Amino acid sequence: MNARVEKALNDQVQKECASSQLYLAMASWAETNGLNGSAIFFYSQSDEERVHMLKLIHFINERGGKAMIPSIDKPASEHESLENVFETLLEHEIGVTESINNLVDICLEEKDYTTHNFIQWYVSEQLEEEAQARTILDKIKLIGKDKGGMYLLDRDLENSQIKTRYNSTGSGK
Ligand code: FEO
Repeated sequence: MNARVEKALNDQVQKECASSQLYLAMASWAETNGLNGSAIFFYSQSDEERVHMLKLIHFINERGGKAMIPSIDKPASEHESLENVFETLLEHEIGVTESINNLVDICLEEKDYTTHNFIQWYVSEQLEEEAQARTILDKIKLIGKDKGGMYLLDRDLENSQIKTRYNSTGSGK
């Protein structure tokens, strides 16, 4: 495997692992702050990021490279509000998207079309994740300090995960 591509893929392993840990910490924060639906949402996001990481690890190893399992800095355990949490999540995902785009550039420069093809799944995934974070953040801003609205949003976040799980069984994603 091309050494530059391998290094970029391993950097991405680190980012997906950090995403998983960050969302796990958010889930734990939500669970201890009465936001049980949000906690289910973040636990599920954390699981998804772990799957993103595992896909990369398998791909690197199957193509003759060597996947590196990274150490991760401790993510923040305290947050001001759910709005603040989703702002952090969106900012984080924008950074991940930049990293994926950089990976695409490297694949093209190194003429590694197989990895380029593999990474397109991540390009689509990032589009979806950023859009989802922006939609939820817009809703939180609309709700403001309305506790009833926050209760309903928390329930919606839980339901969205039930639907995702149902859909994922159908699509095999
Ligand atoms: Fe897998 Fe949301 O980065």
